[in-house]
Amino acid sequence: MRRAKISIIGAGNVGASCAVWAAAKELGDIVLVDIPDFADKTKGKALDLAQCSPIERFDANILGTSDYADTAGSDVVIITAGIPRKPGMSRDDLVQTNVKIVGSVSEQIAKHAPEAVLIIVSNPLDAMVYTAWQKTDFPTQRVIGQAGCLDIARYRTFIAMELNCSVEDITALLMGGHGDDMVPLPRYTSVAGIPVTQFIAKERLDEIIKRAKMGGGEIVKLMGTSAYYAPASGSVQMAEAIIKDKRRILPCAAYCNEEYGVGGYFVGVPCMLGKNGIEKIIEVELDTEERKLLDSSVAHVKELVELAEGFMKG
Ligand code: NAI
Ligand code: 2OP
Repeated sequence: MRRAKISIIGAGNVGASCAVWAAAKELGDIVLVDIPDFADKTKGKALDLAQCSPIERFDANILGTSDYADTAGSDVVIITAGIPRKPGMSRDDLVQTNVKIVGSVSEQIAKHAPEAVLIIVSNPLDAMVYTAWQKTDFPTQRVIGQAGCLDIARYRTFIAMELNCSVEDITALLMGGHGDDMVPLPRYTSVAGIPVTQFIAKERLDEIIKRAKMGGGEIVKLMGTSAYYAPASGSVQMAEAIIKDKRRILPCAAYCNEEYGVGGYFVGVPCMLGKNGIEKIIEVELDTEERKLLDSSVAHVKELVELAEGFMKG
């Protein structure tokens, strides 16, 4: 059987961590790409990771390169290229720089790996997915943003900490953009199938939700740069669902037109992920309050996309 091929663009904190998770899960051969100035560093990271294989017991070719030709034939391309935020910055502050980086990377991928499913990670996420779509002209089914897998993992982690129970038993739903106005949905959160509201009082749950929404900022404050282990883990969870055609239902930034009445933007919604990328967008019932929160998050995504479009042209 042919091994799958995963290319990861940007071999920094998130990109290198994606490579580690993907190798540990033996998802396939891995190509790490960074700018020519970092060619040696990227080759070094690839070699270092390859040398884990006898210990961790995975078989994979791992290549570090600055040549996009090496991405040819990729099944999945994860784009993490771009600057991360520093303390005091919001994700939106990154748009001007990252729209150029993600734009140029996407053009290279369209040329060298035209059949790949794209997973975009660079921030501001919702606008960068839009940029990648514009620059690749790939079918929307194959252009997906990673945010929800991370945000929901944070939310599930905090609930499990609160209840001192296994995170495996927490299932949850979260929608909207990857901003502080993302929308975790307590009505669709359960502990082993039991509504979370039977375990945690509303006021306390509101505090947990707030912490999950601000989870990225909490880590930036502690580390001086943004998170990378969990963002990479979320990205590789998506890659695995696609490569193994698992048809998992995960929150992803997907192109919604009629869905949720979004009107042609990428926003976080529950999706079924399989070999073709987004196999299905799942529309759940929202009550008036949930709908209001989603609409406000989508309005923010639209503003960001408008900003990115300006920089794409300029
Ligand atoms: P980093 O600075 O450690 O790594 C970024 C890498 O991109 C650097 O190695 C840089 O040389 C490379 N790069 C820049 N321009 C490039 C180009 N044209 N081609 C190839 N590589 C290029 O940053 P980190 O922490 O890995 O974050 C990467 C991005 O991911 C940031 O925009 C960050 O905000 C975002 N992020 C998104 C998350 C999400 O959930 N969607 C979570 C965490 C970070
Ligand atoms: C995060 O949520 C900064 O998007 C990044 O950690």
